[in-house]
Amino acid sequence: MAKKHAPVAIGIDIGGTGIKGGLVNLNKGKLVGERQKVKTPEGAPIDAVLSAVAELRDKILAQDEAKGGDYPIGMCMPSVVRRGVAYSAANIADEWIGFDAAAAFSEHLGQPVSLVNDADAAGYGEAKFGHAKDPRGSLLVITLGTGIGSALIHNGKLVPNTELGHLSVGDHDDYEKYASAKVREREDVPLEEWATERLTPYFAKLEQLFSPDLFIVSGGISKQAADFLPHIAIQTRIDAAELTNNAGIVGAALLAQEGWD
Ligand code: BGC
Repeated sequence: MAKKHAPVAIGIDIGGTGIKGGLVNLNKGKLVGERQKVKTPEGAPIDAVLSAVAELRDKILAQDEAKGGDYPIGMCMPSVVRRGVAYSAANIADEWIGFDAAAAFSEHLGQPVSLVNDADAAGYGEAKFGHAKDPRGSLLVITLGTGIGSALIHNGKLVPNTELGHLSVGDHDDYEKYASAKVREREDVPLEEWATERLTPYFAKLEQLFSPDLFIVSGGISKQAADFLPHIAIQTRIDAAELTNNAGIVGAALLAQEGWD
């Protein structure tokens, strides 16, 4: 009997500084070939991003591993996205707001694409292939990076656009401006102090609102989890993500294959 090939899709993650993507083996949640990257055009205006994404797609397909195949494309960006339309714009041009981004990408790339929020893609990738393989209950994935992103997954299903980085907690009415990893770095706050003073009140609030079974912290800083996670004093279990760099790519690719709209 011929060996069945694993399903493969392209995932593309648009960020404020880089646009990254790759071919994803959807049985394993792992990249096939290398991760490819192009620079995010200055200010991330629509036209320039459309061209940059096409360039990235071509780089992905130029790899030997792509074998001239035809793959679904899933994308994510730092915006609230409903039915392909962006409703906010973090670190990208404001002209994205109200724009049917999925339709524009589909037209530019010559094939349908699916589009979701970047933290939703990363959280979903993590839920399916990372640390949290048990799909029961509520999982809240919090991405600590330039901003704070969130993904709520219940019994394996994503509830999109939670945008919990903008919660008002204590005196801080847009909490990511006080507690993101970038703010910590800029203000040179030691990891332990960041965890006790800034992250504990935040996770306590999330715990009160959602009572999740598990929190997962993702983003580059999760590599240093041992130095700060134990200092977040809450009741709920809180773990570091396993799919560090590629979670958004993997989650976006998987959602495309599942027909996310
Ligand atoms: C944005 C979210 C995004 C998060 C992480 C926040 O500022 O509002 O849409 O998921 O940053 O990039």
